[in-house]
Amino acid sequence: MKRMTVPAIRARKKEGVTAEPLVMLTAYTVRMAQLLDPHCDMLLVGDSLGQVIYGLPSTVPVSLDMMCAHGAAVTRGSWHSLVIVDMPFGSYEGSPEQAFHSAARILKETGAAAVKLEGGEAMAPTIAFLAARGIPVMAHIGLTPQAVNVLGGYGARGRSEAEAAKIMADATAVADAGCFAMVLEGVLEPIAIAITEAVAVPIIGIGASARCDGQVLVVDDMLGMFERVPRFVKKYDDLGTRIAETAGRYAADVRARTFPTVEQTYQPKA
Ligand code: KIV
Ligand code: NA
Repeated sequence: MKRMTVPAIRARKKEGVTAEPLVMLTAYTVRMAQLLDPHCDMLLVGDSLGQVIYGLPSTVPVSLDMMCAHGAAVTRGSWHSLVIVDMPFGSYEGSPEQAFHSAARILKETGAAAVKLEGGEAMAPTIAFLAARGIPVMAHIGLTPQAVNVLGGYGARGRSEAEAAKIMADATAVADAGCFAMVLEGVLEPIAIAITEAVAVPIIGIGASARCDGQVLVVDDMLGMFERVPRFVKKYDDLGTRIAETAGRYAADVRARTFPTVEQTYQPKA
């Protein structure tokens, strides 16, 4: 099975909404990438790894080194999905040249085929600059977590008419700049539907609408690794509870000296 390409993803949207929705999940580690890969069209090495893997308070402190290390692990663990790596805060906003330098490092060091960056109209020139120089860009608009210090939190976007119009303008701007797809996060559903119908590139929703061209979730959220998750997460499993219970069974065995048994120990040959 050949790996998905950027043009193949882009071509899934022809007229109106994509007929077969695009499936995307985040992945940060090699084994998780192997498990998710056959089920996904795209794997996103999200800067959500700041919270999910490193326990940071937001995505703001995430470094390019972190993104490169985890991006390389995910490409090593996948063979089918298109791998996209998030550009971390501070690595691209300064200028198109800065963005190119950072994005080129990501592609060289990880083997991923594309990067994702947050921002709408303000980032359009950067998206065009990268795309013209061999770096496909997925945009990310609506609720943009790297802007938490400006937004003041992670609430849904587009509740005022002005804000809704701004999100639509952002979507149009990044599409015109040449992004091959965009994540649309945390917006009122009517806005998500209107953008999906108006814009020619695939719209990947998270906290948006089932009528987007595809969906993405943070894999640890979807697996139930955390007690508190955003409203837009559907918990498909309760892995956190299951891991804690399993650790408890192991601990009880160790304390009772019922592990290891003869099956897990090396005995002298008879
Ligand atoms: O970092 C991330 O996980 C993301 C997705 C939620 C879209 O950007
Ligand atoms: Na992200």
